[in-house]
Amino acid sequence: MPRPTAEDHGLSTLSTAEALRVFGGVALPTIAGGVIKRLPPMMAAAEKLRVDEGADRVLRRLRDRHGDGPLLIKAPGRTFVLPLSSADAGRVLDESPSPFTPANLEKNAALSHFQPHGVLISRGAERDVRRQFNENVLETGEPLHHIAPAVAEKVHEEAGRMLELAEVGGRLDWDAFNLAWWRIVRRVALGDAARDDHRTTDLLARLRLRANLAYGLKKNKAVREELNQRLRAHLARAEKDSLAGVVAQAPAQPETDPVGQLPHWLFAFDAAGITSYRALALLATHAAEREKARQDQGPLLPYLRGCQLESVRLWPTTPMILRDSTKDTEWDGGTLPAGSTVVIFAPFFHRDEEELPFADQFVPEIWLDGRAKQHPALVPFSAGPAECPGRNLVLLVTSTLLSALLQRADFTMVSRPRLDPAQQLPSTFDNFSLEFDVTARRPRP
Ligand code: HEM
Repeated sequence: MPRPTAEDHGLSTLSTAEALRVFGGVALPTIAGGVIKRLPPMMAAAEKLRVDEGADRVLRRLRDRHGDGPLLIKAPGRTFVLPLSSADAGRVLDESPSPFTPANLEKNAALSHFQPHGVLISRGAERDVRRQFNENVLETGEPLHHIAPAVAEKVHEEAGRMLELAEVGGRLDWDAFNLAWWRIVRRVALGDAARDDHRTTDLLARLRLRANLAYGLKKNKAVREELNQRLRAHLARAEKDSLAGVVAQAPAQPETDPVGQLPHWLFAFDAAGITSYRALALLATHAAEREKARQDQGPLLPYLRGCQLESVRLWPTTPMILRDSTKDTEWDGGTLPAGSTVVIFAPFFHRDEEELPFADQFVPEIWLDGRAKQHPALVPFSAGPAECPGRNLVLLVTSTLLSALLQRADFTMVSRPRLDPAQQLPSTFDNFSLEFDVTARRPRP
């Protein structure tokens, strides 16, 4: 693909000083936190330094100075574009995968460490068949996947065990939550026999750490091969009531590579654990919302789905949604050359005080009463034809988990920063250091 030239394209171009501020204040802190696998010490530092607040300030100043048209950043051999209006961000997502492909250069370098055939970094006909396969298995359009009853059972069992242990010491911390979370994920994705197969998810974690340094490290083929072998063995079992069982029934083309789709699913479930744990903190600290959540009726649990969506809106797990343009595209201000990289910085849109009266508050209702839909750049799960195909499955698993936890126990947040309904919610929120006091609500059968 031809690289964009450095000439003026009729769109506002940032000065070198402004471009450096965007790099140092927005891109670098995001990358340093670990884009593919979050790094606990970096997350703790980011929370202390309030890096997301800083990033927001940089972008807001640019919008004040230049208006809300897209801004060009020229780097040697590359052109980056920052949309600053929700309409422009929404347009780019709507026009994916063509002319704005999700298979962007940086994403490709990172994700190919562990999922070279994943749909997110596939193009053309291969992308089409892999997307269809993902939608078929994950049942993208269905609020309730057909294995929902079995999923709920697995989630309730693991939530119960998690709480039994937490109640012994009266505390729930990230390590205990995360251990139970991965048991749920492996049971839902690979089947009950995979419950304690830590090796498979540890192998994936090793590859994801390498992926953080996308270009810097060579691919570790031995680890990838061992991971794939283990995934193939789980798929071969095709356990009923797991995604592996659904994969066995799903039509596949020669280009699909079913086993090659699984690493993305497991990787993405990590984000769902992080956002559930943060949602638990929101519910522990917001009494009125907690009461509504406890009244929520299954199996759909719409209010708890709203809570989960709020957790992702407030602290997006994909802060930078990247698209590369595959041909010249027309914008109000001029032409954007093919090969440019569009950077949609989700936290900026999700907390935009100029557009959103609820910007820094926890308001699950916006996902139920149509308010969120009025803003095309509120995109916790992305949007358009490349929107997350796992959205409904994630909301099913996470809302069920939150419901199970809230029915059985009371949670008091004991770590800092404490979330306070009377204050703006912090822009960076480290899940790893989050802790709760736990007390049982009623005796379990
Ligand atoms: C809280 C949890 C999750 C969040 C917030 C989330 C969010 C997103 C976002 C923002 C994207 C777009 C990424 C981009 O364009 O660069 C995406 C893509 C994707 N997600 Fe998720 N996701 C989550 C969990 C999952 C899970 C559990 C699965 C599978 C079981 C999944 C499957 C996918 C796939 C296959 C894509 C690529 C779609 C495509 O390229 O067409 N996600 N997700």
